[in-house]
Amino acid sequence: MAATADMGSALNCTAGLPDILICDADNLDNIDVLGEFHRDYTLGQELGKGAQGKVHLCRVRETGKLRAVKIFDRSKAKASATFRRELEFLEAHRNPHIVQVLDQYLDTEYCYLVMERFTCHLRKGFKWICSLNGGPAALGNVALRNIVQQAFSAVLHLHRRQVVHRDVKAQNLLADKLDVRDPHLRVVLIDFGFAQYLEPGKVLTSRVGTRKYWPPEVFDGRYDHSMDIFALGVIGFLAASGLLPYADENASRTRDIFGEGAIPDHADEETRTFMERCLEKDPKRRASAAELANDQWLREPVSPRDFQDFDNAASDESSSSDFEGSSTGS
Ligand SMILES: Nc1ncnc2c1ncn2[C@@H]1O[C@H](COP(=O)(O)OP(=O)(O)O)[C@@H](O)[C@H]1O
Ligand SMILES: [Mg+2]
Repeated sequence: MAATADMGSALNCTAGLPDILICDADNLDNIDVLGEFHRDYTLGQELGKGAQGKVHLCRVRETGKLRAVKIFDRSKAKASATFRRELEFLEAHRNPHIVQVLDQYLDTEYCYLVMERFTCHLRKGFKWICSLNGGPAALGNVALRNIVQQAFSAVLHLHRRQVVHRDVKAQNLLADKLDVRDPHLRVVLIDFGFAQYLEPGKVLTSRVGTRKYWPPEVFDGRYDHSMDIFALGVIGFLAASGLLPYADENASRTRDIFGEGAIPDHADEETRTFMERCLEKDPKRRASAAELANDQWLREPVSPRDFQDFDNAASDESSSSDFEGSSTGS
């Protein structure tokens, strides 16, 4: 497992494959299911594109069920290693808010990771709300809390097992409905290409992930699990305002969104407090996942009764089929 290879090397990383030493990345002999992907599935439209390959819709030939498959192009450097890393983390850390891996295949050209299929990523869902509003996606407090709780639940699960995800962002959180205000929305975390085991007290140094979600210490190149917590705060702000709070490194280091009144007026006290605890610039003062887990606002499930404003007429059925024709990007 990558996990065991990793532990000791966390501090001494170099450029290249970030922070992790996967032994013999091309040795995929231990993949349990070797077989022909195309024998079992038909390939559908592209759902998203990434550095190592593409994600497509696919259909199980036998049952007709729809799934998603992430296809890694083995001619690309690190593709096999990333496939292994994703597979190992996804299998080792199953949780209702982490995408479930259902199958894996390998042939001479590609590695295939078959997963549950979701409707869209959160960025797309937020943008859809934006288009309804004709302005920034101002999610209400209840819908925001529902989304943040589920994303937090995935991060808490990982941090309790000493895993840092390192790329928590709206494009890596998938929703089963385009209308992300739906009381029954399910949100899952995907994309474990940068995930890393890290013992308490140790630090990581490779600057990986997505800069607009980075806290200052990632720019400094010395960080730990708390980078994922900062990213959750960024998602909270994005959900409330439709905007990313930190455009660049300077903003991440110096912008005070609380002092300058950038939090939308409609955000209630608990939502603001959550953002403040996550977006603390000093990682030592930032709340840990364990501390946030004591917060009733995050812990107590939102009741469907709280979603008074949800308009069922705008439910996902018609709009999600529009979505299926387009690439979701990553
Ligand atoms: N299980 C899935 N269901 C639907 N869409 C998916 C699924 N997995 C990934 N995608 C889409 O593909 C995009 C890229 O997937 P991701 O795993 O994040 O790849 P990358 O590592 O290249 O970023 C996602 O942002 C999302 O839009
Ligand atoms: Mg991604």
